Amino acid sequence: MDFFQYKNNKLYAEDLLVSELAEQFGTPLYIYSRATLERHWKAFDSALGDHPHLVCFAVKSNPNIAILQVMAKLGAGFDIVSQGELERVIAAGGDPHKVVFSGVAKNEKEIARALELDIRCFNVESLAELQRINEVAGKSGKIAPISLRVNPDVDAHTHPYISTGLKENKFGVSVDEAREVYRLASRLPNIKVTGMDCHIGSQLTEIQPFLDATDRLILLLEQLREDGIELEHLDLGGGLGVTYSDEMPPHPSEYATALLNKLKQYTNLEIIMEPGRAISANSGILVTKVEYLKSNETHNFAIVDAGMNDMIRPALYQAYMNIIEADRTLNRESKIYDVVGPICETSDFLGKQRRLAIAPGDYLVQRSAGAYGASMSSTYNSRPLTAEVMVDGSQAHLIRRRAELTELWELESLLP
Ligand code: LLP
Repeated sequence: MDFFQYKNNKLYAEDLLVSELAEQFGTPLYIYSRATLERHWKAFDSALGDHPHLVCFAVKSNPNIAILQVMAKLGAGFDIVSQGELERVIAAGGDPHKVVFSGVAKNEKEIARALELDIRCFNVESLAELQRINEVAGKSGKIAPISLRVNPDVDAHTHPYISTGLKENKFGVSVDEAREVYRLASRLPNIKVTGMDCHIGSQLTEIQPFLDATDRLILLLEQLREDGIELEHLDLGGGLGVTYSDEMPPHPSEYATALLNKLKQYTNLEIIMEPGRAISANSGILVTKVEYLKSNETHNFAIVDAGMNDMIRPALYQAYMNIIEADRTLNRESKIYDVVGPICETSDFLGKQRRLAIAPGDYLVQRSAGAYGASMSSTYNSRPLTAEVMVDGSQAHLIRRRAELTELWELESLLP
């Protein structure tokens, strides 16, 4: 459930008219709803109830510091994958002790900074990384808390590009090797083994793969107990899907209930989750203006002012994202359109074969754009990064101004 709803056929973001926000701030425009963000994070937090837990928002899904600030104010933790994301969390007022650090390529500088800030845990993805963390911790006079990212070899039944828990993927340590790596970790002088984690993929619409992964992790956890290694937490990653069209992903409470059921005898084992999309996707929309309508022998095109540089998901994953009119009171003829952007690539589309009633100058809204939208945007074709607005009731806050054209080459230099 989100707070982007039609009232009298006009789309609102909480209490504000989307088309008026588009006029005020220009397009393309990302609009987020604070109430929706809060509701989604709380859905995870309350679903885990009294069991010790920490819901870490996956920063990569939407790293705007105002979004992170909303999360921090709720008491959220954060799942990060770079020093850039770590510094954003700090800039947003987030608590470094609630940060878990994932990612396959942590460099020495990133590790040192994370140690300096006393983050909650490094989610270690390889033996070589473990050794590097041990060394950097030694130099910094710190003990690094670690969890091993275990690759449980579970099929997440999602798009291959966002499937991460199969044995052929680059992520984590295979479930067969993990026991040995844990034994080694427990003997390293600057390492404290605190947990185990996994992340099997993104946009999962069933619970079963999560439960299968949990079973494998529990098995390993029991083996580690035999080796005298006691874990403090189990981190199941992110991955819970959202509704883009007609998917029916489980509600966080369904997922949490099934999980708590499996873990009921582990009352002291803290559960960590790293949801990104399930919190941010439906908390945001991308508003775009129809520049031209154009038809050829086979297609009608709605050419809009947002392109694959603003939202790459359809081009990259053939992702379906819903597109709706901001104002349905305008009396337009309805047709089937391919909604395409200004970029010089055939893959530059926001949606194909959509029935829309529009005219040039109208605003279209791509839904579920709050996750992996602005965060994956680029300036391809020298298009400045777009503006972002957070709506909070009847207030609209500009949380990222539109970049100026001159900023496009600000970091570049002419030859002498
Ligand atoms: N934790 C780890 C270690 C991850 O790699 C990810 C996402 C998450 C948590 C958050 O997953 P979520 O709850 O958002 O599914 N750009 C793609 C999605 C890539 C996800 C990468 N990892 C997309 O637009 O569909």
